[in-house]
Amino acid sequence: MTEEVEIKEGLQGVYIAKSSISKVNGEEGKLYYRGYKIEDLAEKSTYEEVCYLILYGKLPNSKELDSFSNELKKERILSDETIEIIKRMSKKAHVLDTLRTAMSSISADDPEPYSSEEEKNVHKAVKIIAKTATISAAIGRVRKGKDIIPPDDSLGHAKNFLYMLTGEKPDNKKAKLMDVMFILHAEHSSNASTFAALVACSTLADIYSAVVAGEAALKGPLHGGADEAAVKMMQAIGEPGNTEKYINEVLASKEKIMGFGHRVYKAYDPRARILKKYLDEIDGNGEEEVNKLVKIALNTEKIMVDRLGKSHGIWPNVDFFAGPLYMHLGIEPELFDVIFSSSRTVGWCAHVIEYWRNNKLFRPLEEYDGALDLEYKPINER
Ligand code: SDX
Repeated sequence: MTEEVEIKEGLQGVYIAKSSISKVNGEEGKLYYRGYKIEDLAEKSTYEEVCYLILYGKLPNSKELDSFSNELKKERILSDETIEIIKRMSKKAHVLDTLRTAMSSISADDPEPYSSEEEKNVHKAVKIIAKTATISAAIGRVRKGKDIIPPDDSLGHAKNFLYMLTGEKPDNKKAKLMDVMFILHAEHSSNASTFAALVACSTLADIYSAVVAGEAALKGPLHGGADEAAVKMMQAIGEPGNTEKYINEVLASKEKIMGFGHRVYKAYDPRARILKKYLDEIDGNGEEEVNKLVKIALNTEKIMVDRLGKSHGIWPNVDFFAGPLYMHLGIEPELFDVIFSSSRTVGWCAHVIEYWRNNKLFRPLEEYDGALDLEYKPINER
């Protein structure tokens, strides 16, 4: 008599470890990185400072921040092999497939990809964060048939990313918005891609392999791919006046509205609330297409919050408003997921480093419900 087992689909509600990196309060819609409110970090910090906070567990003083920022700058450059991979793959492969392959090539340049020493892994994390941003921008350039632009070390992380991607140094307003996008996507506890990275590192695979696992998981539209899917939905709606009809049809066919709902947040995602403020700022002073997308996004939000917010706990998440804001920065929808991945690299690395302090191989169970002890018949009797 086999005992009754309880299967937790998708590991819903299952705690896998203790962590002090971020706190996601799903009931109240609150998010903290190392104890600091996401609202304060988005308004007052920079991605470099947030990376230091997430990796080292405390805000840096100015000397520490300068040294950390300089290490990031030093690591931005890509090898010829990595550039060759980006050039060969970017015209035909999905951006995250190219990113994953380029990431693997970075580990080939490291004589000791796996280390048991935390300090070495933190420096590997800095290298991965810096190079992933350069790879992401390079993929964006090659996709459009343009030359890759090398990093400009006079610029901070966000400004340099936009410069490498667009060829122009952005004004401070756009650079701040890019910085906020990086900060808001940097870390989010044990989401699917971070969990994938943890499963990989729990076998004592190296930190590069763990990041590649995270990138693979992030690709799907239920996770990192939602921001691109959400903006493609807005483009399909076409005109603000079509919004309600479109939403009704999607909901009637039991499909999902991308950028809404969350496994943990049963309240408004605090990151979406921050992004909505920036959306209000560009409303009307973006390009024609972006202005229309902003109106459609705000219409969709109102309909969905009225329809499924309080009653079903389905609220906008970080991916919903991101699209029109990225397009305002000159970023095409197909590139959104790489930017999410570039930003989240710090979260993946920090969780891997923290998990290794008390490593335990992940090996969950399945309840077998197939046949047993079948007789093996020779092929001419089957
Ligand atoms: C991210 O985990 C993280 O922290 C992720 C993330 C991070 O920073 O790492 O926050 C980033 O990935 C945000 C989520 C991006 N994905 C999307 O926006 C895709 C659309 N959302 C849904 O696919 C869904 O909400 C999930 C996958 C995000 C969460 O789904 P769950 O918790 O597995 O819940 P479910 O799919 O079982 O839905 C429960 C019910 C269902 O209805 P019933 O079958 O019970 O009648 O809610 C409905 C769903 O149909 N529902 C939706 C909906 N999301 C859930 N209905 C319409 N539109 C939606 N978006």
